[in-house]
Amino acid sequence: MTASALFTPLTVRATTMRNRLWVAPMCQYSAEERDGLTTDWHLVHLGSFAVGGAGLVMTEATAVSPEGRISPEDLGIWTDEQRDRFARITAFIRAQGAVAGIQLAHAGRKASTWRTWAEQQGSVPLEEGGWETVGPSAVAFDGYRAPRALTVPEIAGVVDDFVAAARRALDAGFEVLELHAAHGYLVHQFLSPLSNLRDDEYGGPLENRARLLLEVVAAVRAEAGEGVPLFVRFSATDWAETGGWTEEDTAVVAGWAAEAGADVMDISSGGNLAGARIPVGPLYQVPFAGYVKERVPEPVRVSAVGLITTPQEAADVVDSGRADAVMLGREMLRDPHFPLRAATALGTTIPWPVQYERARPRP
Ligand code: FNR
Repeated sequence: MTASALFTPLTVRATTMRNRLWVAPMCQYSAEERDGLTTDWHLVHLGSFAVGGAGLVMTEATAVSPEGRISPEDLGIWTDEQRDRFARITAFIRAQGAVAGIQLAHAGRKASTWRTWAEQQGSVPLEEGGWETVGPSAVAFDGYRAPRALTVPEIAGVVDDFVAAARRALDAGFEVLELHAAHGYLVHQFLSPLSNLRDDEYGGPLENRARLLLEVVAAVRAEAGEGVPLFVRFSATDWAETGGWTEEDTAVVAGWAAEAGADVMDISSGGNLAGARIPVGPLYQVPFAGYVKERVPEPVRVSAVGLITTPQEAADVVDSGRADAVMLGREMLRDPHFPLRAATALGTTIPWPVQYERARPRP
């Protein structure tokens, strides 16, 4: 058996991930006090992936401002207290040999919603702790309250919020920053013609719709300095039958984002069109990662995500060159030690936590 590249390190700028098997960002909606602060849940949840051998542990979508939260229970990084609470988690992740990453996010018109397991669905009313949402245009996501269109000075404020969040994240010990430009959240709302109906410099042609993303990338790069890996999560397509954001748009804007200072394109899909018909199945988003990878220049890296659930699938995605790394979401929840198990299954020897050595399968 030839060893898979899955367990070879990947260096992006000044940071080396010990392997290419990464944890996808996953909201926990568990800041129970609605203060955006991490709790023991987040330490154990994220820490277990680092124990389990992941190369990169990406935190859930973490809001850059209170109104940027998807639900009132989302994590945030707009205060120093939030920053300081994260430090314990990043230190633990690093002590296990993994890299801690954070997904910085603003939910835009999809903010102020009930968490997934709440009895109610859709927008949280103002009198129950919800808030007025904002977006590129006053167009609602189906079933949610309509947002208010951001003014140009407010857009500059959003950029500033991402920069301040990036600063706090780095000060908290995160080594990788990811900008959430996917799944129908604020940056994706600007990118997509379905949600962006503006007629100023932030709407209309592709370069205008991409302006917010590119401003955030450039400003975060300037704040972070040259050593920090900067990822962008894209939805490669809106899965709209006509008129939506497409993989061609994604590849073009990924190239511009790279010029502005982004290093890794994390390729997902969907989220901006309620009721879109999505052909979900094993590896269903990997072709989009491959498409982008073929079109972005070296040394830009691409990661794939979406129903990658077996060690062999993960290895094949990387070994076939369709992506430089894979992110796993739900399979990591099923088994936070998936990387340890995958290495055994693929016949690769990787270090185990010394505390767990006695459990390592022997041939
Ligand atoms: C997610 N996903 C997600 N994506 C993202 O960009 N930011 C987020 O905070 C979340 N939150 C989240 C929570 C939970 C519980 C799940 C299951 C998923 C999407 C996730 O990162 C991933 O792209 C998808 O789950 C597809 O990958 P898997 O789960 O098929 O490996």
